[in-house]
Amino acid sequence: MKASVGLNIVVAEDYDEMSKIAAELVAGAVAEKPDAVLGLATGGTPMGLYKELVGLHRAGAADFSRITTFNLDEYYPIQKTNEQSYSFFMNENLFNHINVDFGRVHIPDGEAKDPEAECAAYEARIAAGGSIDLQVLGLGVNGHIGFNEPADCFSAATSLVNLTQSTIDANKRFFESEAQVPRQALTMGVKTIMMARRILMLASGGAKADIVRRFIRGPVTPQVPASALQLHRRVTVVLDRAAAAGL
Ligand code: GLP
Repeated sequence: MKASVGLNIVVAEDYDEMSKIAAELVAGAVAEKPDAVLGLATGGTPMGLYKELVGLHRAGAADFSRITTFNLDEYYPIQKTNEQSYSFFMNENLFNHINVDFGRVHIPDGEAKDPEAECAAYEARIAAGGSIDLQVLGLGVNGHIGFNEPADCFSAATSLVNLTQSTIDANKRFFESEAQVPRQALTMGVKTIMMARRILMLASGGAKADIVRRFIRGPVTPQVPASALQLHRRVTVVLDRAAAAGL
C-alpha cells in the first residue's frame, strides 16, 4: 500500500475487509523488520485484525518470534486473571495463538501496588525498547485513544487516569454490570502514542462516523484526543464504509 506523508485514509467495504487490510499492514511491517516493536490495542475493533494475524501465522506466512509488544492501556485496578482485563484479552485473542516471546510482551500492570511507579517504569521500558515502530489504535466514541479521555490539555506520558462516564457506559457491555467497570486505567499518554514511527488507526461501524469526521476534519483539540494524529507524520486510518460515512 502506497502512503504519502501525513494522514492517509483507506476505506474498506466492511469490518472483515478492514481487518484484512490492517493485518496486511502489520504483517508487512514485521516482514520488513522481524524485530519490530508493535504497539497494540484492545476493544472490539482490532479483534478481526488479530484473528487475521493468527491465520497468517498458522499458514506459515508470519513469524512473530522476534517482535516486542507494548499494549496501550489496562484497567486499574484489575487482576490479570479477570476475563475483562486487557492482559487476558491479548492472550486470548492473539498471544496464545502466535509464536510471540512472552518475555517481550508488555502490558501496563493493573495489579501494581504503586500505579504511578508502574506508569513511569512502563514509559521507560518503551523508551529502552527504542520506541514503537507501528502503533495500532482503536477510537473511543468520545474521541479517546488508549484511555486518554477528552480534556483541557493533551496528556504526555503513561499515567493513571480516571475514566469518563461515556467510556464506562461504552465498555460496560463487557462486564456483568456497570458497577464492575473499573473507574481508572493506566494508559500510554498522547505524547507516548505520537512518538510511534507509524500509526494504524482502525474504526468500524456507523456509531463511530461522527467522531471519525471530527478527529480527521475538525480542529486539533484535546477535547478530541485522536485529533492529535493530524499532526503525525505517518498515520494510516483504515475505516469501513459505515465509519467513513461522515467524511
Ligand atoms: C476502549 C479502549 C481503547 C479502544 C476503545 C474503542 O475503551 N481503551 O483502546 O480503542 O475503547 O473500543 P471498541 O474498539 O470496542 O469500540
